[in-house]
Formats: sequence, C-alpha cells, structure tokens
Amino acid sequence: MVGRMGSRLQSLKHRMARRLNRAAARAGLSWSRLNQVEAALFRDIPAAERGDVQVFDRLYKLHGPLRSTAGLTADAKLAAELHFLFREKAEVALTAGSSWYGGDYFEFGAHDLNTFRNMLSAYDMCGMTQAYTDVRFYAFDIFGDLAKPGSSASTDESLNAYFAPYTQGGNAIKLHEKYLDQHNLFRDKCILVQGLFQDTLTPEFKSIYLKENRKIGFAFLDCNVGSSYRTVFEFIFDMMGENSYIYMDEYFQNPLVPNYFAQFTEELRKQRSMGSLYIRNAGGYGAVFRLHPIWQDTSPLSLKLSAKR
Ligand SMILES: C[S@@+](CC[C@H](N)C(=O)[O-])C[C@H]1O[C@@H](n2cnc3c(N)ncnc32)[C@H](O)[C@@H]1O
Repeated sequence: MVGRMGSRLQSLKHRMARRLNRAAARAGLSWSRLNQVEAALFRDIPAAERGDVQVFDRLYKLHGPLRSTAGLTADAKLAAELHFLFREKAEVALTAGSSWYGGDYFEFGAHDLNTFRNMLSAYDMCGMTQAYTDVRFYAFDIFGDLAKPGSSASTDESLNAYFAPYTQGGNAIKLHEKYLDQHNLFRDKCILVQGLFQDTLTPEFKSIYLKENRKIGFAFLDCNVGSSYRTVFEFIFDMMGENSYIYMDEYFQNPLVPNYFAQFTEELRKQRSMGSLYIRNAGGYGAVFRLHPIWQDTSPLSLKLSAKR
C-alpha cells in the first residue's frame, strides 16, 4: 500500500518538477516575461505609485488574505506559484544561516544549483556564519551525465527513467561551473561532485573527510527518490556535526522519507547522544530539523502543584 502510494507520489513529483523546470525557464529567465507578470499583478496600481513593493507581495491584501487571482494570466499564476515554492527554500537557507554553528554545506541533488546558490548567498549575508571562514560547499549530482565509466546506473531501467529529464541536455558540469562563476560567492570553496551517489559517496571519501577533522553543518537532501534518500542517510550518519541542520525536500510527500528519518534520529540518539528539533517547513513538501547534543548531566526539573491554587 505504502509502496504503491509512494511511487504514485514520486511520479507526481517528477511531473511537477519537470513542469516547474520548464515554467522556470519560461517565467524566471526572461525579464520581458517577468515584466508581463508584474504588469498583470499591478494592473490596478499606476506605475508611479508602485514604489519598491515586491511584486509577489501584491498577491496579499493589506490585512493578509490572498487577493483574487481570477484576472491573472496563466503565466502570472505559474510565476506566483513558482515564486512561493522557490522562496520557501530560500528561507530555509536563511533560517540555517541565521543561527549557524559551523561545519560544511552538503547538498545531495543539486542540478541547476538553485538551492545551492541560496546557501552561498545566505552564508554571505548572515552574521553568525562570519565566524566560520573555513567552510566548504559540496554539491553532489550526476549533473546530466549518467553514463560515466563505472557508473552503477547504466543497467538499471527504472533509474534511467527517473534521470531522463536530467540527462537530456547531456553532461552539464561546465554549465554548472559557469553558474558558480556568475554567482561569484565562495567560488574557491565550492566543490561539484559528479556521479551517482552510489558511486561518489564512498568510504574513501568519508575517511579522508573525517581525517581532516571536518563535519557537516547542513545536509540538504533534494533527491526525489526514496532509494537516494536511503543512500544519503546511511552515508552522513557519522559526519553530522552537533547543532547541524538537515533538510528533506520530500519530507511531507514521500512516506519513505519521514520513515527513514525516524530510524536515522533513533540511531543518532542511541549511538551519538544527539536529538533532533523540528525547525520549519518549506511549503507543504519539505522540512528542516536541527540535530542537537543531549545533555547527559541534566537532572530532572522539580515540578509540583502548590497546595493552594
Ligand atoms: C529536484 S532536483 C535538485 C534541484 C536542485 N536542488 C535545485 O534547487 O536546483 C533532484 C536531483 O537529484 C539528483 N539525484 C537523485 N538521486 C540521485 C542519485 N542517486 N545520484 C545522483 N544524483 C541523484 C537528480 O539528478 C536531480 O538532479
């Protein structure tokens, strides 16, 4: 039952992701398209009176509720929805950056580098990150190339189907390097690791990383499929730092993800004396948690009702 429901949700998520990617290309990358969206949202306010109001904030009435979208074009509605979805993830990066305890940023599922670049900006902007200058930003993905020599995927049909939308443009590593050059933040600290997680998240990588005395400050999991979540959870278990963050983009959508996370946190508690605190959601799909040390020496509170109340 859960398996059938999980795979239906997965295919819905894939279709949605493809639709959003196409829409982002249409709505997000063209200024003239954005100008049309802006005109549709602001049509009742003369240009001279718009000031510096954020265009999508116009969706809300003065006292909070959403305005009617009946008069918006399909493009404007899509752009507004995209804005909401992407903004939520940008706020997740700011949430972690605003209360930072050190460590490196690891993103699993990084194609297009939208959320990766969110974190570069959040890290640059937030005060608490400034004390931690020895930071690295790792991005793990196939970056369009599933058929690297020795790849585990070449024979797996279901994996090929999942990756199809991400491989149709061919090897995109150079393009992703260009995105980083253009973003122009922490460029020498960014590391793109190309390949399937099954091939790149190796014991050798981990052993060198831990010998360098490094730890993960934020693990950002945006990898859609349950099997990829499993690979990542098993890899990061002993690399997560105290007070580190973990974000799961499918936490509320794919039942496998909260299930794996429950196992992950149970073992963290038993083997590493770490607990987890829910921090916030991203829309109806994602959630971010912080992993905190459990204080062994805390004596219980003395809580008694007074005689006279
Ligand atoms: C939704 S996209 C990531 C979007 C990205 N975080 C952004 O905001 O621009 C999901 C990515 O997960 C990657 N992925 C999923 N499973 C993987 C695996 N086992 N190995 C490598 N990459 C994987 C896919 O290649 C895809 O690019």
